Amino acid sequence: MSHHPDNTSTVPVADTKSGLRHRVRAWKQEGATIGLVPTMGALHHGHLSLVKRIREACDKVVVSIFVNPAQFAAGEDLDAYPRQVADDLEALATAAADLAYIPAGGEIYPDGFATLVKVRDMGDILCGVHRPGHFDGVTTVVAKLLLQCAPDTAIFGEKDYQQLQIIRRMATDLDIPVTILGGKIIRDEDGLAASSRNVYLSKDERKTAVNLPRILQDAVARAPASKDLRRLERDAAAALKKAGFNSVDYVEIRDADNLALIKKITRPARILAAARIGKTRLIDNMPVDPAPPGG
Ligand code: PAF
Repeated sequence: MSHHPDNTSTVPVADTKSGLRHRVRAWKQEGATIGLVPTMGALHHGHLSLVKRIREACDKVVVSIFVNPAQFAAGEDLDAYPRQVADDLEALATAAADLAYIPAGGEIYPDGFATLVKVRDMGDILCGVHRPGHFDGVTTVVAKLLLQCAPDTAIFGEKDYQQLQIIRRMATDLDIPVTILGGKIIRDEDGLAASSRNVYLSKDERKTAVNLPRILQDAVARAPASKDLRRLERDAAAALKKAGFNSVDYVEIRDADNLALIKKITRPARILAAARIGKTRLIDNMPVDPAPPGG
């Protein structure tokens, strides 16, 4: 257990898995329940809302910060990804997290590491088409974090909705004894979903970006009565391009649980989208609920 050199606040830091386990074991012996918030740092109010939410469910809150190379493909923004550990620790102290787990790379991927945790099918659609291997990197690191920390509950933001559903599938399939919670999307005043990548946007790009939630909202309103969801998706993608997005990776309406493509909104669904402005790739999603009977 150590304090990070830049840390001016009081949240303790574990930088090894043995330090983490030692602390968690002591808490469990006292009868405390443990919540884990896995993050890649660059914490914003979306992450802090996850800390707040999991605190309602657990006695002790661990926040991990690890920029996971395995979920970045060659040419993606691994090197540019914002790293600001001192600020993160300050934010975690204010949010009254109980422990920050900031492992060095070797704690997660020691020499000789050769295992991949892969959720089939669900990882190959939506973002999986445009970021091959991404979700395998996510599930591998999340499996490790869950095994290292052994929390009662872990929470992931609904902003990365596909990731959340894949992690739920993995935890069920591998009998990992953890409850997975989803945290609601936190939006800035202009409607843009909070994301560590929003810092990449110029002022003008940000003005374009806010069209993403607006256009999705419009599709959400139309979807329950729509007889052609594929057309609705195409229209939304065209609207994004017209609004100034350089390219649209996808706009799709899928079952909210298993992410299967659906033809009609008869049970809870989700609209999910990814689109690019300049070099920045933004994702967003919203619930689509069936129209109330007689409505
Ligand atoms: O959502 C993220 O920040 C990451 O994908 C996660 C879950 C921390 C795994 O690296």
